[in-house]
Amino acid sequence: MQKQRTVLVTGAAGGMCRGINARLGAGGHRVICTDLDPDAAERAAQAVRDAGGMADAFAVDVSDPGSVRALAGDVRERVGEVDVLINAAGILDRKYLADHDDRSFERTIDVNLVGPFRMIQTFAPAMVERGWGRIINVSSIAGVTGYPYPSYAASKAGLSNLARSLVIDFWGTGVTVNSICPGVVDTPMVIQEVRDQVPRKVPTGKIVDPDEIGGVALFLIGEDAKNINGADILVDGGATRYFQLFDRP
Ligand SMILES: NC(=O)c1ccc[n+]([C@@H]2O[C@H](COP(=O)([O-])OP(=O)(O)OC[C@H]3O[C@@H](n4cnc5c(N)ncnc54)[C@H](O)[C@@H]3O)[C@@H](O)[C@H]2O)c1
Repeated sequence: MQKQRTVLVTGAAGGMCRGINARLGAGGHRVICTDLDPDAAERAAQAVRDAGGMADAFAVDVSDPGSVRALAGDVRERVGEVDVLINAAGILDRKYLADHDDRSFERTIDVNLVGPFRMIQTFAPAMVERGWGRIINVSSIAGVTGYPYPSYAASKAGLSNLARSLVIDFWGTGVTVNSICPGVVDTPMVIQEVRDQVPRKVPTGKIVDPDEIGGVALFLIGEDAKNINGADILVDGGATRYFQLFDRP
């Protein structure tokens, strides 16, 4: 049994976090479910409690500095210190270069990259003070390979390199930072056209279940992962390893 941790999850009402919240709750951890929509965050927390776990709900807009500051105060008051931060909130704007206007590119960067940066800046100092902390960014294979939608790809590449770089900031502090890079996960974010290609483009032939992402998160906050730091953990069925110019035999 792992030591019980307090884990703050952003985007906790989303499809991926169904698996993350459930596995953390079942693992005995206290899950702080945060999301843009307070009712959706509360439903996510209730699902953890219904399964016998501990959970609280808070609203936050990670792209808004005032909202993140307010969250930090509210969490400290109602729950206490956070041991683990999981940055899972994200948006995917299916725009090509020419379709972007002045603000749309920045909007994705604000939510997917600046938001996690701000959350880390807000919640990491207390982890450093206590000499233990885990930060997990939910990046994407779109941050590892080229990808059709440049705002999403750039935000996720930035997010992964943020984790790689922060290991230097957290040198000797007991805080580690890693990225989970999922491929095609069974959530509403994934359109049917992509799902249909999985048997031909993903070597395992399988779409990833959100529960598997939860399992990886659970492992990363456990004792056996204490020396995993600055890693990109691909959970993509081998999709990024497949050289697309050859058809599979
Ligand atoms: N679904 C996939 O196949 C896949 C693959 C790779 C990476 N990802 C990443 O996984 C994460 C979760 O994706 P998902 O499939 O669960 O998507 P989702 O759309 O179901 O969930 C995203 C959640 O983030 C919340 N959110 C959006 N903007 C926010 C903001 N400004 N502040 C706070 N919360 C905000 C939404 O309300 C939503 O609940 C995202 O970062 C996504 O980029 C998903």
